[in-house]
Amino acid sequence: MRPYTRAGITRPSVEAAAPPVTQEHVPVLRAEVVDLLTTATGGKRFIDGTVGAGGHAAALLAAMPDAQLLGLDADPQALAVAEQRLAIYGQRVRLAHGNFSDLKLIARAHGWERVDGILLDLGLSSRQLGDDARGFSFSSSGPLDLRFDPTGDHPTATELVRQWNTEELARVIWKFGEERWSRRIARAITAARPPTGAWRARDFARVAGSAVPRVGGKRRHHPATRTFQALRIAVNGELDALKTVLPQAIQLLDTGGRLAVISYHSLEDRLVKQAFRAATGVCQCPPEVPVCSCGAAAEVRLVTRRVVRPTAAEVQENARSRSARLRVVERLPLTAETEGHVKPPMHHEPAHS
Ligand SMILES: C[S@@+](CC[C@H](N)C(=O)[O-])C[C@H]1O[C@@H](n2cnc3c(N)ncnc32)[C@H](O)[C@@H]1O
Repeated sequence: MRPYTRAGITRPSVEAAAPPVTQEHVPVLRAEVVDLLTTATGGKRFIDGTVGAGGHAAALLAAMPDAQLLGLDADPQALAVAEQRLAIYGQRVRLAHGNFSDLKLIARAHGWERVDGILLDLGLSSRQLGDDARGFSFSSSGPLDLRFDPTGDHPTATELVRQWNTEELARVIWKFGEERWSRRIARAITAARPPTGAWRARDFARVAGSAVPRVGGKRRHHPATRTFQALRIAVNGELDALKTVLPQAIQLLDTGGRLAVISYHSLEDRLVKQAFRAATGVCQCPPEVPVCSCGAAAEVRLVTRRVVRPTAAEVQENARSRSARLRVVERLPLTAETEGHVKPPMHHEPAHS
C-alpha cells in the first residue's frame, strides 16, 4: 500500500499511530452499501471519502476483486487504523489525509478524473468516540477538542467556546443542535468556562447538561447530546464540507457510477436530500419565479427513492446505527451540459408552478 499523502498539499504535522482499540467501529448498513455501490457496470475505481477504520472499504474491496479504492479521512489516526486493516489489499488501496471538501483536488492528485463509486459515511467513528484524549464523549477526561483533524491550526471546541459571547454560543447550539434550551445552556457555559486552559469534556458535558430541564420521565439521551453535536459541527465545519462535497462527488462519477451517503441527523440528511433532488434536474427556483432560471439539468437518477434505514436487527446489534439514513444516486450519461463545464439556464416552467 502506498503511504498516505495529504492530496499533495502537506503531510500531517503529528506522527499518526493507530490508537489503542477501546471500541471497534462496526460499519453501518454495510450490506446495503456494498449492494448499492456494486453496480452492474463492474466499476473499477472507488473513493471512500470517510474511510475511518476501513470497515466499509474492506467490504467493498472484498466484494469487487478488480476494484481499486482511494480512502480519505481528515483524521490521521483513523488513517493509521485503515492502513493496518486494508494492508491485505496491497496496491489496490491508496490512502490520503485531507478533507472531503477537497475531493476533486485529492482525486486528481491521484490521477483519478472519473470514478465508479463514492461513499460518504458522515460524522464520527466509534473509535474517535472511545478515544478519551479527543473529548468526543460526555464521559471523557480529555480536553474538549472535537476536531476530526488535529493537525491543522483550526481552533478546538474549547477555544471557540472561549471566543464566542453568550449570544453567539446560543446561536450555534440552536442552529447546529436544534436545541430548544440553547439560551439557558449558553448562559450556563459562559458563566462556568475556565479563563485559561482546556475544558475537560466531561466537565463541559456536566455544565451543559445541568442547564437542560428534565421534562417527563426517564431521559433517552444525555442532556448535552445536542450541544455536543452543535459544537462538533461548528468546530469541523461539517455542514459546509458536506455542501461543498456533494456537487464535486457527482461530477467525479462516470456514467452509471454511484454516490452513497449515510447521514446521522436531520441537518445532514436534509442537505443530502436537497442536493440529490437538485441534481435530478428538479427546478430550484422560488415558486414566484415564472420562468426557470436556475439551470436545472438532470445529472443523476435517484437509486433510493426512499431513504434506506437499518433493520431492527442491525439497530439491536449496533445502537449507533439507529439514526442512520442512506441515500444513493447514479450518474446519468455524461453530456457537455452535465459535465460541469457548461450549464446554461433552461427555459421551462419551474416544476412547482
Ligand atoms: C462514521 S466514520 C466512517 C467509518 C467507516 N465507514 C468505517 O467503516 O470504518 C466517519 C469518518 O469520517 C471522517 N470525516 C468526517 N468528516 C470528514 C471530512 N469533512 N473530510 C474527511 N473525513 C471526514 C471522520 O474522521 C471519521 O473517521
